[in-house]
Amino acid sequence: MAEENIAVLLDEKRVFKPKEEFVNQTNVKQWMDKHNIKNLDELYKKGENWEWFWEEISKDLVEWYKPYDKVVEWNPPYAKWFVGAQYNIVHDALDKHAKSWRKNKVAFIFEGEPGDVQKWTYNDLYIEVNKLANAMKKLGVKKGDRVGIYMPMIVELPIAMLACAKIGAIHSVVFSGFSANAFRDRVNDSEAKLVITCDAFWRRGKKVYLKEQADVALEETPSVQHVIVCKRTEDAVPWTKGRDLWWNEIIKDMSKECETERLDADDPLFFLYTSGTTGKPKGIIHTHGGYAVGTAYTLKWVFDMKDEDIWWCAADIGWITGHSYIVYAPLILGATSVIYEGAPDWLQPDRWWDIIEKYNVTTLYTSPTSIRLFMRYGEKWPQKHDLSSLRLLGSVGEPINPEAWMWYYKHIGSENCPIMDTWWQTETGHFYISPLPLTPLKPGSATKALPGLSAEVYNEKAEPVQNAGGNLVLTHPWPGMLRGIYKNPERYQETYWSKFKSIYLAGDVTRKDDDGFFWIQGRADDVLNVSGHRIGNSEVESALVSHPMVAEAAVIGKPHELKGESIVSYVVLKEDADPTEELRKALWAHVGTEMGKIARPDEIWFVHDVPKTRSGKIMRRVIRAKALGKDTGDTSTLANPEAVDEIGNAK
Ligand code: WTA
Repeated sequence: MAEENIAVLLDEKRVFKPKEEFVNQTNVKQWMDKHNIKNLDELYKKGENWEWFWEEISKDLVEWYKPYDKVVEWNPPYAKWFVGAQYNIVHDALDKHAKSWRKNKVAFIFEGEPGDVQKWTYNDLYIEVNKLANAMKKLGVKKGDRVGIYMPMIVELPIAMLACAKIGAIHSVVFSGFSANAFRDRVNDSEAKLVITCDAFWRRGKKVYLKEQADVALEETPSVQHVIVCKRTEDAVPWTKGRDLWWNEIIKDMSKECETERLDADDPLFFLYTSGTTGKPKGIIHTHGGYAVGTAYTLKWVFDMKDEDIWWCAADIGWITGHSYIVYAPLILGATSVIYEGAPDWLQPDRWWDIIEKYNVTTLYTSPTSIRLFMRYGEKWPQKHDLSSLRLLGSVGEPINPEAWMWYYKHIGSENCPIMDTWWQTETGHFYISPLPLTPLKPGSATKALPGLSAEVYNEKAEPVQNAGGNLVLTHPWPGMLRGIYKNPERYQETYWSKFKSIYLAGDVTRKDDDGFFWIQGRADDVLNVSGHRIGNSEVESALVSHPMVAEAAVIGKPHELKGESIVSYVVLKEDADPTEELRKALWAHVGTEMGKIARPDEIWFVHDVPKTRSGKIMRRVIRAKALGKDTGDTSTLANPEAVDEIGNAK
């Protein structure tokens, strides 16, 4: 959606200042007072003394089993944080609360799509995690083993993640909306020994049979020895004797205590696969110590998390937002969070507003796509509810257009709640560019890199540029940063650290204004952002080409009012194939099977050829310009310039 929004963003002059009474009570203001810091500028300055800063910050948030010797060790492109410390994130997320007054505090309020409600205290979670961890140990799962998790938005998903972390196993969660094949590929890449899934879950009033889907994947996952199946419904499921085990049965006789494995602070906690510019997703590695500090710090400051808050991060745990801000950070801070299973507008478009009113949610964190969906339904839906419990709002995943920002501010926040537009990535692990609750806000800007973090906009010569689009780069290592791509150090180096030496390339086109505010404009590379979800153009192309009738495919993103971007594909069929409506439907369904519903193309056009360079590289930039009716630039160097015209006339 990038270029189309720039004009609007450049014109944005409105500034929203938070109220003083509000600011004075925030966690960040209290920290500033304690350190004698008078204003935001001074705070950012303090953050530049980054080793000191992270040391100070970590003190309030985590408890090491054995203290670290050094805050950070930076051997580009590899960083180690809290070097020498012994640690396990589960100590802070669970163990310490179960031994404190928070024992009986509610950690998760769960609401299922059909309306069933569960409340889990920290002690309830502690017991269930321990039992599951003991059962996993009994199955032979050990430190460093990988566990593939394919589960919907139910409390057993965080429980499964925590049980893995507790015994030092590495979880690899795959979004339950991904297809069986996508799950299979990720399980195989991570060589998981164990899979945890569930029978079925609710979505738009219907059951989605996840175990059946998992079984399709499990036909081709040689590393998997056992499958633990959690029960969400009463339905029967297909069963492989000896391999499959019911969750409730295997934990029944397990002890309520399980010692938490003492790990190195930099031992891996999880892999999470994300799209890049090749057809193969990359397994991003995150570790225990730095990730705990980075996620807890950002949630405590940006969303001002206090014990009395009811926090709702309405993302899916299958993505990084859910890992960091439904599971780890809120638990470390001892918060109460809402987890909702189903579709946002089910049964009615006020489902979310009903949930906020019912549980007195104080902070809501969601995506621009959801906000635009609710905008479309109109303000009459939120108006039916008392939303006065809200005090802060948040946005993530894509650039938020000022119109959506204003609607959110007015109709959900009653002009009382600052909006935290947080820019970050699977790779950063936690918020990176984001306001604090005392930052004056400009709708559409994620403002500045948080204290202790540092970003710049570089031109191609690695020079900082102002008021012009450039490459967003992160100029220091940071605690929650990725530690690599699983089994692929070359790709790690190449993707993030080679365009500018020892500087992290984020892959987003960004502009920095006169106040030093960042305006993220969209991806610079061939990665689509559909409803805040990252999907590689080439992954969709590979999925199309894997259909027996397809010879070649090119995929581009087009601006879309609701989803940010829609997926448009140009398909070259094999000679014996007919370009029928039926085939179009079959290809659409095929991408769903290969990748998942979110990747199904909005448009499929049949063409004889797609524009390519002489070396055979598909020129997506040219295709996109042509499809949007823009200047395609010089096409004479293409191997097949005539293919460009066909894009314009595609059927
Ligand atoms: C985009 C999601 C503008 C960006 C947490 C980034 C954003 C990609 C914002 C990462 C934002 C995320 N404003 N763009 N506030 N937040 N993005 O890995 O293009 O799923 O590079 O992480 O989403 O997507 P990912």
